[in-house]
Amino acid sequence: MRKLLVTGGAGFIGSNFVRMILSEQPDCFVVNLDKLTYAGNLENLAGFENNKNHKFIKGDICDAKLIERIIDEFKIDSIVNFAAESHVDRSISEPKIFIETNVTGTLTLLEATRDKKLRQFVQISTDEVYGALGREGMFTEDTPLSPNSPYSASKASADLLVRAFGHTFGVQYNITRCSNNYGPYQFPEKLIPLMINNALNDKQLPVYGDGMQIRDWLYVYDHCTAIWKVLTEAAPGEIYNIGGCNEKANIDVVRLILGRLGKPESLIKHVTDRPGHDRRYAIDASKIINKLNWKPSVSFEQGIVKTIDWYLANRNWLANVVSGDYQKYYDSMYKNR
Ligand code: NAD
Ligand code: TYD
Repeated sequence: MRKLLVTGGAGFIGSNFVRMILSEQPDCFVVNLDKLTYAGNLENLAGFENNKNHKFIKGDICDAKLIERIIDEFKIDSIVNFAAESHVDRSISEPKIFIETNVTGTLTLLEATRDKKLRQFVQISTDEVYGALGREGMFTEDTPLSPNSPYSASKASADLLVRAFGHTFGVQYNITRCSNNYGPYQFPEKLIPLMINNALNDKQLPVYGDGMQIRDWLYVYDHCTAIWKVLTEAAPGEIYNIGGCNEKANIDVVRLILGRLGKPESLIKHVTDRPGHDRRYAIDASKIINKLNWKPSVSFEQGIVKTIDWYLANRNWLANVVSGDYQKYYDSMYKNR
C-alpha cells in the first residue's frame, strides 16, 4: 500500500487529487496536511470524514517536528507537495508569505524526505517558472527558468531546491509544471471562478488590460491523473510539463462564461493591468504524453460547462467561501482599479 503525505490537500487542486485517490486507488493511504489558510477549506473534503484511507491534519509545512512526527506515525513513503500561496496578485501586494510557504516550506519537506529516507518527493510546480511567451512557441522542460512575479519566483526557487536535494543528497524527486487549472472547488480569486461568481451576482467582471493575454487551460481532474502517473511511473529526477493544449484569450473565456450564464457582455469592465503581467503561457506536454502515456480527457468546451454547472449546483459552497474576509480582499484588489 502507498502511504502518501499530501500537503495543501484542502485547497483546489489538492482536494481534487485526494478525491481522485480515494475513489480510484483503494491501495493508497493519504495523510492530508493543510494549514487552512484563506484558500484551504474543509468543505472541499466533505464526504471524506469516515474514509479509512484519509487522515486530515491541520498544520504548517514549515513545522519540521510535525512533518517528522507524521512520517513516523503513519509510515509515510512519499510526499506530494501542493501546499503553496498560489495567487499572483496577492504575491504582488504581499510577497513575504510566498517565500515562507513556497520556499522555506518546501525546504522543510525536503529535509524530512532526506532524513527519513523517503521513497519519493513530488513537487507540484507551475509553467509560470518559465516566464512569458510571445505569440509563438511553447514551454518545454528545457526552457530556462525566468520567473516574472514574486509567486513564480518563489515556485522557481522551490524547484531549484528540489533539484539541489536530488543532486547533493540523492533525494528521489519529480517536478510537475502545469498550466492554468480550472474546475470544481477553485477559490474565486482566480479568473474563472471569480468571473462566474461576479456574473451570478450581476457584478462587473474586471478584465485586466485588453484581455488578450493567453492562458493554456487544463481541467483539474486531468492534472490529477497526470500527477498520479508521475507518482507511480516516472523515473527519479524527471520533470514533466502538463498542459491541455487549450490556449484561450482571457476575454474569450469571460465571454463564454457570460454566454453560458445568460448574462450581458456589458458586465465586462476593462481595468488597470496587473504589473508585470505575463502575456502568454503555452505548454508542450509531449514528454508526459509520449513517455508516460498520459493524455487529457476533458476538452475546454466540455470542462468549462462542467465547471460552470458545478458552481451553479454548489451556490452554498460559493456563498460560504465569499463570506468573511473575501469582500475586504476584493475591495482592496479592485476598488479604484
Ligand atoms: P490553493 O491556493 O487553492 O491551495 C493551496 C492550499 O495550500 C490551501 O489549502 C492552503 O490552506 C494550503 N497551504 C498554504 N500554505 C500552507 C502551509 N504553510 N502549510 C500547509 N498548507 C498550506 O492552490 P491550488 O490552485 O490548489 O494550487 C496547488 C499547487 O499547484 C500549488 O503549489 C500551485 O503553485 C500549483 N499550481 C497551481 C495551478 C493553478 O492553476 N491553480 C497551476 C499550476 C500549478
Ligand atoms: P489567474 O487566474 O490569477 O491565474 P494566473 O495569473 O496564475 O495565470 O489569472 C488568469 C488570467 O486572468 C491572467 O492573465 C490574469 C487575468 N485576470 C483578469 O483579467 N481579471 C481577474 O480578475 C483575474 C483574477 C485574472
